[in-house]
Amino acid sequence: MIRDLILKNRSYRRFYQEVSIELATLRELVDLARLSPSAGNTQPLKYILSCDPKKNALIFPHLAWAGYLKDWSGPCEKERPSAYIIILGDTEIKQSFGCDHGIAAQSILLGTTEKNLGGCIIGSRQREGLRKALKIPHRCEILLVLALGKSKETVVIETVGPTGDIRYWRNSNDIHHVPKRALDDIIL
Ligand SMILES: Cc1cc2nc3c(=O)[nH]c(=O)nc-3n(C[C@H](O)[C@H](O)[C@H](O)COP(=O)(O)O)c2cc1C
Repeated sequence: MIRDLILKNRSYRRFYQEVSIELATLRELVDLARLSPSAGNTQPLKYILSCDPKKNALIFPHLAWAGYLKDWSGPCEKERPSAYIIILGDTEIKQSFGCDHGIAAQSILLGTTEKNLGGCIIGSRQREGLRKALKIPHRCEILLVLALGKSKETVVIETVGPTGDIRYWRNSNDIHHVPKRALDDIIL
């Protein structure tokens, strides 16, 4: 079952924007992160939730999508995420956040997948623009943005070919292909 959940938990970047996500759902998802491991149990992460179209519109312009798809600048209006969870690191608790935010992101996305929703981790964000737009306090580092919604995409996993190219790509029907290295190539 965990394999099925992980297989289903792909990075989705196009959504049915009209399908909203309740604030209570976002809180449930953050609760999964709250219960996840944290180095030294310091729990330095804080979260900003957004499921309101006006707040979502403040966040969207500061995100970068699918760097390998050079002719696609991100989801168009109507296909944008209907919610976001922004993961912050509280520097009053700790100066560096190790992999806590990666673990938190995966817990949230697995929970999202279980709810038949989808999402994408966005590490390429314009921090200062986002900080200004949402008035994020300077003591908090902006670590990751999770874009969430009802996914509209088909994502296919394939094995990395002999050229070793790991870049994801889309075919003419907008099916998104993600090459993964073979198991025997990653176990040393
Ligand atoms: C730390 C991290 C940062 C990422 N940042 C971005 C990003 O800024 N924009 C984006 O479109 N995808 C981003 N992704 C998604 C990756 O591109 C995606 O995980 C990869 O293509 C593999 O696809 P999969 O998640 O479906 O296995 C990020 C993923 C991780 C783990």
